[in-house]
Amino acid sequence: MTVAELVDLRSDTVTRPTAGMREAMVAAEVGDDVYGDDPTVNALEAEVAALFGHEAALFAPSGSMANQIALQLVVPPGDELLCDADAHVVTYEIGAAAAYGGISSRTWSAVGADIDPEVVARMIRPDGYFAVPTRAIAVEQTHNRGGGGVIPLATLRELRGVADDAGVALHCDGARIWHAHVADGVPLTEYGRLFDTLSVCLSKGLGAPVGSLVVGSAEKIERARMIRKRMGGGMRQAGILAAAGRYALAHHVDRLAEDHARAARLAEAVAPFGVLATTVRTNLVPLDLTKHVLDARALAAAAREEGVLISVLGPRTARLVTHLDLDDEAVTRASNVLARVLAA
Ligand SMILES: Cc1ncc(COP(=O)(O)O)c(C=O)c1O
Repeated sequence: MTVAELVDLRSDTVTRPTAGMREAMVAAEVGDDVYGDDPTVNALEAEVAALFGHEAALFAPSGSMANQIALQLVVPPGDELLCDADAHVVTYEIGAAAAYGGISSRTWSAVGADIDPEVVARMIRPDGYFAVPTRAIAVEQTHNRGGGGVIPLATLRELRGVADDAGVALHCDGARIWHAHVADGVPLTEYGRLFDTLSVCLSKGLGAPVGSLVVGSAEKIERARMIRKRMGGGMRQAGILAAAGRYALAHHVDRLAEDHARAARLAEAVAPFGVLATTVRTNLVPLDLTKHVLDARALAAAAREEGVLISVLGPRTARLVTHLDLDDEAVTRASNVLARVLAA
């Protein structure tokens, strides 16, 4: 089976740049971005800052680095970050907050996007020398391990109130904030208004090959530039990559609705087998195989035999993801394969 024949549902990071995106990359004006001389990077940063109604933004090589730069901006070494136990920043970033920022992390029980602001408020520890002071709260929009769930705007507003009352910062890991914007129709500026810092990814659903941005005030982004360089994230003629990001913003945001509709079709195909972990809101379809005869590895292996790739997240949890490189025909093929394998 060729790569083209495989239906790859492992992640929305597996997409390849489209012809139009490659043309934009080739045509990009570039300069040395560590000197601030790359016009395409500068344009991307200004554009993304404006999209979220913030003063400034900084291009970073990855979502993980963008998150970690933002966390170092809002939590000094030794002080505390609060987030949920399934958050990307404490699950998949390999201890970076502790290793690079000296940040102490404390988590509330994983509930995906279904956050109770009162629970978070009760966890906050005040400033002082007798306990670790809380400096920031981080949330994830949409929530990756929470099955692509969208945190409601009302909850985010309450969390902003909690952060303000306690004098702590609110960070958004917005790797897929575009999906939340499309699913709930909340303007990006409205999300931007609620957070002190955001990290947003161009290389997930938007289909760019590389790149994320940290978004915040001019003062924070000035400091972020230093932190990025310290972490080895200063890039030179990065305009080639920024051009892909600008193209993605212009062409690939509204179409996320198609990914959501295709994810809903996959969910419908697997639902009769009792393996759907939660209601599907965006482009992620989380599977809970606790009650199924197949475990996650067995399901993935059987699907692979028939040309469908899925992610194994745990012994009995798996995930399907829709993205730019899938069309309706691929989703139909995958739905049929998964239904056949789950029925066996
Ligand atoms: C919610 C979330 N945040 C951050 C990241 C990190 O992005 P990267 O892989 O570019 O470091 C991911 C990656 O999938 C993610 O899902």
